[in-house]
Amino acid sequence: MSSKKIHPIGVFDSGYGGLSVLKDFIRLMPEYDFYYLGDNARAPYGPRSFETVYQYTLEAVKKLFDLGCHLVILACNTASAKALRTIQQKDLPKIDPARRVLGVIRPSVEAIGEHKLSGSIGVLGTKGTVLSNSYPLEIKKIYPKLNVVQEACPMWVPLVENNEYNKPGADYFVHKNIKALLKKKPDIDTVILACTHYPLLENKIKKYLPENIRLVSQGAIVAESLKDYLHRHPEMDKKCTKSSVYKFFTTDSPEIFKEHGKIFCDKINQVEHIVL
Ligand code: DGL
Repeated sequence: MSSKKIHPIGVFDSGYGGLSVLKDFIRLMPEYDFYYLGDNARAPYGPRSFETVYQYTLEAVKKLFDLGCHLVILACNTASAKALRTIQQKDLPKIDPARRVLGVIRPSVEAIGEHKLSGSIGVLGTKGTVLSNSYPLEIKKIYPKLNVVQEACPMWVPLVENNEYNKPGADYFVHKNIKALLKKKPDIDTVILACTHYPLLENKIKKYLPENIRLVSQGAIVAESLKDYLHRHPEMDKKCTKSSVYKFFTTDSPEIFKEHGKIFCDKINQVEHIVL
């Protein structure tokens, strides 16, 4: 019996964080096929150089293309900040101009508009995302009057990757970074969780963030934006197969991925080891 070739939507993250986005993709578009690739063996990407994040991300994108994906979402802010533009402008025309790679920063920034703003917004992200200045640049393009303050939270991804996100040790780092962000601009009224790992820390973040500050996390926003993209690009939508196949690939141990990934997404069954 020959098995039909599928063309899933590829979802990439340095590790588990992108699963928090994939969960919303599946919730909103369960009929599509999805391949998730986590580069767990080389996570976190946050502290790595531009060149390294770009090289790693390009390898992952090429792998997802080889696996049959025509559309890849970088469900990682660090990769979106440091690699997306170069891949779109330099690599895609050479690899296959009909394929597409999209990131999470632009849709997240566009979603700020759905909220009423006092004039100041806070961005919490990895060191890589913060140093890239991608959020302030994108925010200024759409909302030039907005003040943007950023705080890098280098310990948050390791806390999540090591399953320490709901332990008391996490409180120390969450409190420390939120205090530092608010010190920079006490009148912030919105905070963007600009890292796909951070929704796992949401309870602790809310504990230290004043109640009047709105917290924006990316999963639902990026999912709505993908749905809209596919609606506006029927030629791409036609290429994406729809048989509700969800498959997971990791550069590290499939057993550990299955076990740990459960906390982000309850759809993980088939996990395969992959070499980039
Ligand atoms: N989930 C990634 C992000 O959104 C984490 C990056 C990392 O591996 O440090 O930035």
